[in-house]
Amino acid sequence: MRFVSRISCVACGKTAEAPASAGTCPACRDDFAILDIEFDLARVAKSMTPAALTNRPLNHWRYHELLPIEPDEECFAWPVGWTPIMDTPRLAEWAGCRQLRVKDDGRNPTSSFKDRASSVGVLHALRRGAKRIACASTGNAASSLAGYAAMAGLPATIFVPQRAPEPKVAQLLIYGADVRRVRGTYAQAYDLCTAECTKNDWYNRNCAINPYLVEGKKTCGLEIAEQTAGREPDWVAVSVGDGCTVAGIAKGLLEMKELGFISRAPCVLGVQAAGMDPVAIAFEAGALPKEVSGHTVADSIDVPVPRNWRKAVKYVKAVKGAIVRVTDEEITEAMKAAGRLAGVFAEPAAAASIAGVKRAIADGVIARTADVLAVVTGNGLKDIKTAMAIAGQPTEVDPLA
Ligand SMILES: Cc1ncc(COP(=O)(O)O)c(C=O)c1O
Repeated sequence: MRFVSRISCVACGKTAEAPASAGTCPACRDDFAILDIEFDLARVAKSMTPAALTNRPLNHWRYHELLPIEPDEECFAWPVGWTPIMDTPRLAEWAGCRQLRVKDDGRNPTSSFKDRASSVGVLHALRRGAKRIACASTGNAASSLAGYAAMAGLPATIFVPQRAPEPKVAQLLIYGADVRRVRGTYAQAYDLCTAECTKNDWYNRNCAINPYLVEGKKTCGLEIAEQTAGREPDWVAVSVGDGCTVAGIAKGLLEMKELGFISRAPCVLGVQAAGMDPVAIAFEAGALPKEVSGHTVADSIDVPVPRNWRKAVKYVKAVKGAIVRVTDEEITEAMKAAGRLAGVFAEPAAAASIAGVKRAIADGVIARTADVLAVVTGNGLKDIKTAMAIAGQPTEVDPLA
């Protein structure tokens, strides 16, 4: 916490004590009063200079001044981040914009961008002397946490909802986690996990209410700024479930602008599924809807109770961004387009960002002349069932006689 200036509440703005792991504002007594970590950027600027970064490892620990926990030699060896950004001109033509680049965060070690948060969470848990780490997840946070807990030798308990796709469940079983499949929704798995963490004194990795973890997701924004410096996109698009990722990326871009790495922070486009759009509603109305009853094929963003909606709305507004909705059909079309036109295999929630770019251009939210970067947050092999349902069938042929 060397460079942290204060911890504030996104609801009331008051300063709060640093929680042990997950925690909301004690003054607000509101499940959605999420805490935000603020950094002393003037101090950060003294050591995190462009020259200093050239000598640091190509993973997200290179930004340690902007993380709430100082990495040590051991975790410097954990690979995470520094994922590639590629130019995708044929996908740009499909989406209707001048330029489209894709940052493929599905190339993280456990195949999703959640590795950014899990690596920070596991390190924080180790520093706190935790005996076990736990989370509830629709899949990616779980498999990622299980992977980093295995790297660190820390026991992990994972609560997954009934609908979690098999490949993600397989991943976390292989990483050796204690897996509890909850007969219910993600929201129910989340509540059970929170109760078990309190009861057993486990480290709670649930990202939305763990302010340390969102800082891990922020490194995607820090990287986008450093990797594109001088050629920054006008817009960065990313899909939205709980809201932590879009908030983290926008915050990272703003910090890099403050630090002088980029001359302007790109606008951020949050993308929600049309059938599951509580953050989009909150962005427009200023409050969460009472209930959202739809569903989406994109299981990772099928989140009816987005804990981090306030942080998402705050940071998307801070970068003059927008939130759009895409249908399941638009998502699966984008999955096919990303594969065929750019060689990128995205899971549905990850392809939603690309679908959102096309939708935002059609709706006039993003200009056709814009330079856009879409973050692909998870690899397509995470959800083979959807991929096989939309991909078509191979041609059956006989072998040589
Ligand atoms: C692949 C993928 N994309 C996007 C998201 C949305 O992230 P957040 O819940 O932080 O909004 C998730 C969350 O699980 C995810 O797994």
